[in-house]
Amino acid sequence: MLVRVDFNVPLENRRIVDDTRIREAIPTIQNLVERRARLILITHLGRPDGQVDDAYRTAPLASRLGELIARPVRHVDDCVGPSVENAVKTMRDGEIVMLENVRFHPGETKNDPDFARQLAALGEIYVNDAFGTAHRAHASTVGVAQYLPAVAGLLMEREIKTLGRIMTDPPHPLVAIIGGSKISTKIGVIRSLLKRVDRLCIGGAMACTFLKAKGLSMGRSLVEDDQLEVARSLLASAGTLVLPLDAVVAADARPGVPVDTVAVDAVPPEMKVLDVGPMTVERFLQTCDGAAAVVWNGPLGVYEVPPFDHGTDALAQGLAGSDAQTIIGGGDLVAALQKQHLAERMSFVSTGGGATLEFLEGKVLPGIAVLRDKAHA
Ligand code: 3PG
Repeated sequence: MLVRVDFNVPLENRRIVDDTRIREAIPTIQNLVERRARLILITHLGRPDGQVDDAYRTAPLASRLGELIARPVRHVDDCVGPSVENAVKTMRDGEIVMLENVRFHPGETKNDPDFARQLAALGEIYVNDAFGTAHRAHASTVGVAQYLPAVAGLLMEREIKTLGRIMTDPPHPLVAIIGGSKISTKIGVIRSLLKRVDRLCIGGAMACTFLKAKGLSMGRSLVEDDQLEVARSLLASAGTLVLPLDAVVAADARPGVPVDTVAVDAVPPEMKVLDVGPMTVERFLQTCDGAAAVVWNGPLGVYEVPPFDHGTDALAQGLAGSDAQTIIGGGDLVAALQKQHLAERMSFVSTGGGATLEFLEGKVLPGIAVLRDKAHA
């Protein structure tokens, strides 16, 4: 079995700082191993740009997986070619081999058919469990499916079911919370969710563009002036938007800088809005009160620099105790919630960053489109 996983985990000095993506792939791996399959794991790590880069070797990923599942995971130092073919030939039932970083070959990101064919030749069935990479049309996510029967792994299935329900059969009342810094990167998801939610709360620096569009002064805050029209049209058309009431301001996002909490119509000219204030958190939590589900993507403030992580943490604390199904859309927000061990208190945390965003925008993800559909198989 050729199993594409997304073990693209954050590293610091070549050490894994968060192994969530490895852990999340374990159910698929265990299931196949128990059924005595021979598993050939493929992943990318970082963006080595078609070149061998020692900083992005997958050997540490193989050893971490081995520790987690208490089984040997053999690492081979390429992903195609005679040495790999030999290693695969000598595999026994239930054994696991992890290939070297698939992005060391330029054919991967180009979705080169020849490279895809070489990968496919290693196995008999292709399992894609790499939801986080499903928005990339690469050789190991799309190309191989031309040559082998292609099916979804258990993580892929869980992501599609949970996020898919929001898109096709949303539970009500449904509330979305969208944070992050730029409207330009979130406009797709905002438009898509507005068709499905009962209320949509806006936080993060992005909220400053909405507030400025309403005529408020945002001091030296990050505002996308070229998005003011977009913000105005959304405000005019969508009565479901909930904006911040107060903000935490400072001269800059530096540790130890003096901070103040002000109403959104009283942001001092020399200050930047760096987090939502407590009244806003309260308002967002009240909006979520009684919701069947809450979908949240993007932090509410500059969470990397305390104390501008308070708004995000306080909202997560409040949601952790709620009856609503809480669905966290990957990337920065997951990193923010993990700092306080709040991620594990949510109902579902997506392993995707860009993939989750594109899925919620309603885009067809190429890595999913090539998989067999159970209903029509
Ligand atoms: C991710 O971390 O979002 C995925 O692994 C995809 O990585 P990429 O953005 O480098 O394609």
